[in-house]
Amino acid sequence: MSQALPPAAAPGLRILLGITGGIAAYKGAELARQFIKAGAQVQVVMTEGALRFVTAQTFQALTGRTVRHSLWDEQAEAAMGHIELARWPDAIVIAPASANFLAGLAHGFADDLLSTLCLATDKPIYAAPAMNRLMWANPATQANLTTLRGRGLRVIGPGSGAQACGEVGEGRMSEPEGIAREVLGDFAPRGPLAGLHAVVTAGPTREPLDPVRFISNRSSGKQGYAVAEALARLGASVTLVSGPVHLDTPAGVKRIDVETAQQMLDATLDAAKSAQLLVGAAAVADYRPAAAEPQKIKKSAETMDLALSRNADILSAVREAQPGLFIAGFAAETEKLAEHARGKLERKKLDLIAANWVGAGRAFDQDDNALQVYWQDGERTLGPAAKSEVARQLAALIAERYAAKHPARK
Ligand code: CTP
Repeated sequence: MSQALPPAAAPGLRILLGITGGIAAYKGAELARQFIKAGAQVQVVMTEGALRFVTAQTFQALTGRTVRHSLWDEQAEAAMGHIELARWPDAIVIAPASANFLAGLAHGFADDLLSTLCLATDKPIYAAPAMNRLMWANPATQANLTTLRGRGLRVIGPGSGAQACGEVGEGRMSEPEGIAREVLGDFAPRGPLAGLHAVVTAGPTREPLDPVRFISNRSSGKQGYAVAEALARLGASVTLVSGPVHLDTPAGVKRIDVETAQQMLDATLDAAKSAQLLVGAAAVADYRPAAAEPQKIKKSAETMDLALSRNADILSAVREAQPGLFIAGFAAETEKLAEHARGKLERKKLDLIAANWVGAGRAFDQDDNALQVYWQDGERTLGPAAKSEVARQLAALIAERYAAKHPARK
């Protein structure tokens, strides 16, 4: 399990990735993957030259979108005309950008789809040049770049090193990770949790009885997933430690899948090492079968007793490991909501606890929810509303309480 921070989240960011002709075109695939991992939507546009180096299918498979490459493709134009396509992205990233393409751009040519889009947009354009060192050093190329920079084009790289042509020098395309970091950095959310790493546990755990049976609960994971998404929208880097659920990973969120409470404990302790916040939204099984049978248990007697062992409390374990962490927990209660929730706040040394009524069709597997949130010297009601809205309010409250705990943070 890695402790590396998830990439800067860019949920919903729209990137038009232009691929021009050059051997570095294959690196465009990794760049598309980096953007998608961060939650961005990627539309690839290739030049005719690029198609000689890599296939459109590669990008189509990675991005889930039809690759565009021609101004004269009637079908594609009917679905989304090139002017509409030019309006679609938040940024255009050309990687690799060939010497020829940069020259055309500097002179305002619109002789293929990509150059037309660049001319017809008012969004930022990034270019990662890739070419032979002499082509890069050529005064014509440098003059074109000066012109383009003067018009606001952001040039990323190039780096220097061994080139595909066998020469060594400047002109090698920057590595995809570096390009992604630079572009995403410009669009990183600037919310109140920017620069912070939050870990969220969500969903149920499964405690195996034998190879085919397990003990679990009705948690759908919806509330935890919504909280993870809401925290990301406030600027946090979010790691979601998730039990088995049928939900898509929120955009820009790094997800770690686990099954048992023990696995969730290990993954959470590990991820929390680099975190400032932890939100325990998982419905962790309090007990597991004392022994998981290696073979399927056969029926015999009329009744059967099941010996259970207590699972460790994840929030308490993380609190012990990291006394300074901001920890928010959930409490699912069928009675005496305030008393039980405040009891858990105290016992588990939490900074905040969000309590909800459960049973009689409430909370579990529902789309709506209401929360009563308690902290040391305060209390607030959130909802009733859609879980996504309640999550948004809870994330805002967590940011508020985090700021209250760390007044020195700007
Ligand atoms: N929790 C946890 N590890 C566990 C059990 C619970 O981290 N082994 C977390 C949950 O994610 C939640 C909080 O503790 O944030 C409260 O869980 P809940 O099940 O409501 O309370 P319990 O502490 O398990 O107490 P009880 O079951 O007696 O109500």
